[in-house]
Amino acid sequence: MSKKLYIETYGCQMNVVDSEIVVSILKDEGFDITQQISDADIILVNTCSIRENAEQKIRNRLKLFKSYKNKKKDLIIGVIGCMAERLKTNLFEEEKAVDLIIGPDAYRELPKVIKLAGNGQKSANVILSEEEMYADINPLRYDSNGVSAFISIMRGCNNMCAYCVVPYTRGTERSRNPHTIINEINNLKNSGYKEITLLGQNVNSYLYNIDNKKFTFPDLLSLVAESFPEIRIRYSTSHPKDLSVELLNTMARYPNICRHIHLPVQSGSSRILDMMKRGYTRDKYLKVIENIKSIIPDCAISTDIISGFCSETEFDHQQTLSLMEEVGFDFAFMFKYSERPDTFAASKYKDDIDDETKTRRLNEIINLQNKLSFNSKKQDIGKIYEVLIEGFSKKSKAEVFGRTSQNKVVVFPADNHKIGDMVKIQVTSCTSATLIGKKID
Ligand code: 5AD
Ligand code: SF4
Repeated sequence: MSKKLYIETYGCQMNVVDSEIVVSILKDEGFDITQQISDADIILVNTCSIRENAEQKIRNRLKLFKSYKNKKKDLIIGVIGCMAERLKTNLFEEEKAVDLIIGPDAYRELPKVIKLAGNGQKSANVILSEEEMYADINPLRYDSNGVSAFISIMRGCNNMCAYCVVPYTRGTERSRNPHTIINEINNLKNSGYKEITLLGQNVNSYLYNIDNKKFTFPDLLSLVAESFPEIRIRYSTSHPKDLSVELLNTMARYPNICRHIHLPVQSGSSRILDMMKRGYTRDKYLKVIENIKSIIPDCAISTDIISGFCSETEFDHQQTLSLMEEVGFDFAFMFKYSERPDTFAASKYKDDIDDETKTRRLNEIINLQNKLSFNSKKQDIGKIYEVLIEGFSKKSKAEVFGRTSQNKVVVFPADNHKIGDMVKIQVTSCTSATLIGKKID
C-alpha cells in the first residue's frame, strides 16, 4: 500500500512551486498525496519566515499536527522551507513533535531523511547551495486549476534589503537554464495549461550565460513569448531599482505578455527607502512608473508596502500615502513592519514604532488602497477584456471567474464556458474586489 503524504504550504508563490517539487520527488518514492490529515503517514509543512505572524501561524498548526501524532505514533512530521532554514535544529527543541527539518535547497534529501525519521532518528539538512535549481524535476501540480502554473526561473536573493529574512533563508541568487524553462512550459502547454507565471525574488536580475553571451530577463521573456504565442505570460517580482526600459519595450512588443507589473515600493519616503537599502529614491520609483505608463498605457501596477519601519515619522508615512495617490496602484499587499532576527535592521536599527502607531498607519494605508482599487475598477466599466476562465464562482455554479491581462478578477455568467476558455467580456459594474461582466460576441 502506498504511503500517504499531507502537505501544507505557507508564504509566497515560490513556495507553491517548491511544494510541487517536493511532491514530485516523493511521488517517485511511492508517496501519494492525501487531503485528509487523519490519513497521513507523513505531514510536511512548507514554511515562511517573512513576518513573525507567519511563523506563529505555523507553530499553531504544529500543535494541531502533534495531536494527530499522539493518536498515531509512527506519524512523521516535517518542517521544510524558510522557517526550517532560519531556525535549523533549534526547531527540534522548540517543537517537540517535529521529526525532520529540511531547508529550501535540500529537498532531494527528503527520501533519505524520511527513512531515518521512520527509524526514530530525527535529522535535518539546511545546507544552502549556490547551484540547486531543481531544473530536472517536473513539479507535480497537485493543487492546480489546470489552467495556470508557476515556474521558478531563479532561486535565492542578493538584494539584502535591511528588513528581509529571505537572503538568509533562500541563499544566494542563481538563474535557471532557459532551455529547461522552455521544456517545462512545453510540458505545461501539452497538458492544457493556458497561463504561466515566471517567478523569482527579483526577476529583473535574471542572468544566464550561454556560450559566454549574457542572456537576460528581457531575452527570456521574448523567447518565451515567441515560442508560446498562445500562452499568457506573467512574471513576478520586479525590483524598482532595475526595471529597465528594455523590459518595458519587450512587454509592449508581445500581446501575450500580461499587462501587469508587481513593483514593491515598500515606502514613499526616500529617507526610509535608504535605510531599507532598497537602492532607489521616491523620485526614481516615480520615474519608473512614468516609464511604465508611457510605454504600456494599459498596464496595471501593484505593490507591497510596509508600515512603521524603524524611525518612520508621520511625515514619512504621509509620503507613502501621497506616493500611493500619485501612482494610483491597482492593488497592494500591505504589512506592518515585523523585525526579523539577524537581519541588518534588527542588528543596526531600533524597532521603535509602537504597535498602535504601526496599526493606525497600516489602516490608513489599507483604507486609501481600498479607495484606489475601487477607482481602478470603476474605470474599467464599459471596457472590453479577454478573460481566461479559472473556475466557477464560489457563490454560484451559474457564474465563472477569470482574470484580465491586468490581473483583475472578473465574474460573469457561466453559459456553456469551460475552465481554460478565453472569453471576450465587457465590464458592466464592479465591487471594490471584483469586476462584473457579460460576454460579448
Ligand atoms: N516586515 C514586514 N513586511 C515584510 N516584508 C518583507 N519583510 C518584511 C518584514 N520584516 C514584505 C515586503 C515584501 C513582501 C513579500 O513582504 O513588503 O515585498
Ligand atoms: Fe517566500 Fe519569503 Fe516566505 Fe520564504 S520567507 S516562503 S521566500 S515569502
